[in-house]
Amino acid sequence: MSAAIARVGVVGGGQMGAGIAEVCARARLDTIVCEADRAAADRARERVAVSLERAVQRGKLDRLSAEDALGRLTFPGGLDTVASVAASLYDEFKEPLYAPPPLLQRMVEAGLFGRNTGRGFHRYDRG
Ligand SMILES: NC(=O)c1ccc[n+]([C@@H]2O[C@H](COP(=O)([O-])OP(=O)(O)OC[C@H]3O[C@@H](n4cnc5c(N)ncnc54)[C@H](O)[C@@H]3O)[C@@H](O)[C@H]2O)c1
Repeated sequence: MSAAIARVGVVGGGQMGAGIAEVCARARLDTIVCEADRAAADRARERVAVSLERAVQRGKLDRLSAEDALGRLTFPGGLDTVASVAASLYDEFKEPLYAPPPLLQRMVEAGLFGRNTGRGFHRYDRG
């Protein structure tokens, strides 16, 4: 028995992960790329965006398809990673233990992804 792939998760958006994510997104699969932190997630997104643009410039991909592919990619990094993965697991398995806690959802919606302090907790600077 085979099941259709609905979503793809890629851990690490470096050379390999970004390439895999791009292939999945170009195949019209919604794809989440989990990186270690926000900065790495931004680099991963840039890596895929540059690669898609290069494909457009070379005539290998039309602009609409490139935009569609980029729109299918999510690059959370930090607490948003946790919330996104939990939401995907909950959607898939309907297991209440996987559901993202309301506080986590509120923090992510407010853009409070935290900064790793190296002490097991995140710090939220005011400002
Ligand atoms: N590049 C190749 O040609 C190649 C070929 C075969 C196998 N591999 C293997 O594939 C893996 C990735 O290779 P690569 O070239 O893409 O490396 P890379 O260094 O370009 O990318 C690794 C990415 O993983 C991220 N990462 C590290 N820890 C993480 C964590 N805990 N959670 C989420 N993200 C994390 C890093 O930030 C980085 O962006 C390696 O194990 C490598 O040995 C690479």
